[in-house]
Amino acid sequence: VNARAGGAIQSVLDSAGQQARQIEGLWWIFFWVCLVVYVLVAAALFLALFRKRRDAGEVQGERRAVHAITAATVLTVGTLFFLLVSTIAVGRDLNHNGPVAVTIEITGHQWWWQVEYDHEDKSKRFTTANELTMPAGEPVRLKLASGDVIHDFWVPSLGPKRDLTPGHDGALVLRAERPGVYRGQCAEFCGQQHAKMAFWVNVLPKEEFLTWAEAQRRASRIPTTASQRKGLETFLNAPCPLCHSIAGTDASGKVAPDLTHFASRRSIAGGTVPNRRGYLAAWILDPQHVKAGSNMPPSAMKGSDLDPLLDYLESLE
Ligand code: CUA
Repeated sequence: VNARAGGAIQSVLDSAGQQARQIEGLWWIFFWVCLVVYVLVAAALFLALFRKRRDAGEVQGERRAVHAITAATVLTVGTLFFLLVSTIAVGRDLNHNGPVAVTIEITGHQWWWQVEYDHEDKSKRFTTANELTMPAGEPVRLKLASGDVIHDFWVPSLGPKRDLTPGHDGALVLRAERPGVYRGQCAEFCGQQHAKMAFWVNVLPKEEFLTWAEAQRRASRIPTTASQRKGLETFLNAPCPLCHSIAGTDASGKVAPDLTHFASRRSIAGGTVPNRRGYLAAWILDPQHVKAGSNMPPSAMKGSDLDPLLDYLESLE
């Protein structure tokens, strides 16, 4: 998956959003200031080590030392103050209080992301998981909550990190400037599979975003082949619907990712493996092998049941 030819998908140093650009600028300020300080300190150290002792009078030598220490202190305080001011300035700019194009509620779970698109008209809301799709060039408000422990939402290419704290809702406004695909990652240790709590961000031109949202609002596809029909039946008879929802069917579990448009997503198990048939089969049969500790239970299933189930799930675009 590429953000664009040669572009990075997860890098603070290849910003694709307004806030990320400011953070990138700040990063470079810190880099250059620290580099200069390092060189100066190293030079002073070498000078002190290798300089021949001159026979200055004790009083004169002491006076020189006082001058040097005073100058170094003033310089240090000045430098730190400069870094402090630039940090505060960038921090303030990261906030956005104006109107937004879309509001998305994101809930962190061990270890996946629930993504709900808000709308004044309740019938136009929809839910997806582990993937965030947003329009380019427009501010998008993310409401951040946690279903269990502290997580942290971070898309390095687009903006700052923000904690998802249980019982304390947070918010973050992101503005992506370049269409593309970016990777996000949970940035706060949240248990065994913290590393496998990733997600994708699809930034689309506005028109494409509206088309996408319209498609997501629709109920799931009705099975068209005998195999798909059998797959849906298998799904409904297995424990799957206790946790998963598929709009348009009887499956309405709320504790695991919504699968209504499952086939349109890039990855499964919170960005752990690509959304392809082989991985999906492994994930259904033995999830603990793919992601130990996850809440997905194993399903002992005959091949004659598994194949139709895969056919059905792959049809859910
Ligand atoms: Cu969620 Cu780390």
